[in-house]
Amino acid sequence: MAASSTLSRLNLVRRPSLTYALTTLRALKPRCRQQPRPQWAPLSSSSKSFSAHLSTPKSPNPSSPKAHPKIPGPDDDLLVLGIETSCDDTAAAVVRSSGEILSQVVSSQADLLARYGGVAPKMAEEAHLQVIDKVVQETLDRANVSETDLSAVAVTIGPGLSLCLRGNLSDISLFGVRKARKTAGSFNLPIIGVHHMEAHALVARLIERNLQFPFMALLISGGHNLLVLARDLGQYVQLGTTIDDAIGEAYDKTAKWLGLDMRRSGGPAIEELAHEGDAESIKFSIPMKQHKDCNFSYAGLKTQVRLAIESKHINAEIPISCASRHDRSSRADIAASFQRVAVLHLEERCERAIEWALNIEPSIKHLVVAGGVASNLYVRARLDQVVKKNNLQLVCPPPNLCTDNGVMVAWTGIEHLRMGRFDPPPPADEPEDLVYDLRPRWPLGEEYAEGRSEARSLRRARMHPSLTSIIQASLQQQR
Ligand code: KG4
Ligand code: ZN
Repeated sequence: MAASSTLSRLNLVRRPSLTYALTTLRALKPRCRQQPRPQWAPLSSSSKSFSAHLSTPKSPNPSSPKAHPKIPGPDDDLLVLGIETSCDDTAAAVVRSSGEILSQVVSSQADLLARYGGVAPKMAEEAHLQVIDKVVQETLDRANVSETDLSAVAVTIGPGLSLCLRGNLSDISLFGVRKARKTAGSFNLPIIGVHHMEAHALVARLIERNLQFPFMALLISGGHNLLVLARDLGQYVQLGTTIDDAIGEAYDKTAKWLGLDMRRSGGPAIEELAHEGDAESIKFSIPMKQHKDCNFSYAGLKTQVRLAIESKHINAEIPISCASRHDRSSRADIAASFQRVAVLHLEERCERAIEWALNIEPSIKHLVVAGGVASNLYVRARLDQVVKKNNLQLVCPPPNLCTDNGVMVAWTGIEHLRMGRFDPPPPADEPEDLVYDLRPRWPLGEEYAEGRSEARSLRRARMHPSLTSIIQASLQQQR
């Protein structure tokens, strides 16, 4: 903890790039066990790198290896380790480019969640620090591979945990990034910096191999609510985002105020209790009805819920397991009514977004719904109806690939590696106290101009250029 806050203040230290590098070199050798790995090299000055647009190391490290990284061919067998520490879970996985998941390990912070009623960033930092080495080792062991079998390491570099952003704490992706760079540096592997929300969307392509670009995605998690049009890999149009809280945050707060068991986070607890309640009993109003756009807001609904809880004299100190029958039934009514309106807001925005997206890309056939909240069966069923009405198909990854996981990071790494977007191996002797190029505020795509809303009051300060703009700029440079 102390180390990370020091890091975020030390701007003088050189920053290694965690962006992707586009190389112009050719075919990566297929990876399989016992095969000698190709050597990787720092990019030559003629290579095109995203680093040009962002911070780079001030001087190339002399200890970097000298051979050349190569772009894999479409049929090459790639094996990628993915590491994810951008939120409360510490996760890793090994995935093959065929789509085979060799192993995945998630160390969740269930006890911390229960004790603090949500993610506590400082606690999350400590927890990541304690378990990251074990999680990665167990992932490799379960996959029955060693680091030398890997083609690359992929790691989430942003955007960060919402609480960290609000609390101005350092980004906890740092723990995964340090581990990833150390592994990649020691074993001379290329490294891919992954956008957390892109990973949520792309894992759907691992599950549904027919899912081609362009497609739409609704990404719903604890810190983000995004409606995007995925035109191509690395080319996203943001149709809508949240102007305040994300839906997962509203689920978590509602669960906490209702005295629910937070060990699996608030969402599953609300989903379960809502089955017992009457969803029409409390008439919460649907957010942003007057704004005919695709943005979201959950702060107002949270306030409505809090007022309803106060008016029914529900005491969150009394766990639901100890509540009287009448009290339990009041709590269930609130859970069900909240869930109905929270999801109606999603439905309304999706309807409009589908219309917009089909105007831009009439060939769209799929809506991907992913992120932690997408593991909710009620959410899936309601959105399935919206999608069917519009002659589209819903693609939802299985629940364990909706909540944060290493598979989505490894898979996104594979997708980018295949396109030649990676950084060369970091130096094996990279000092631990470097300041890394993390991206706590990092949009996925450019905002759809016609969808810009007056209700939007997003803080834009300290935002990174979007993933899409970085990739497009790099491609233009290459031409
Ligand atoms: O994607 P995720 O695992 O982490 C972030 O990137 O934030 O999403 C976590 C969020 C939490 O707010 C959690 O309460 C919510 O997903 N969640 C659910 C369900 N399972 C997880 N929300 C509603 N219903 C669920 N079954
Ligand atoms: Zn997530």
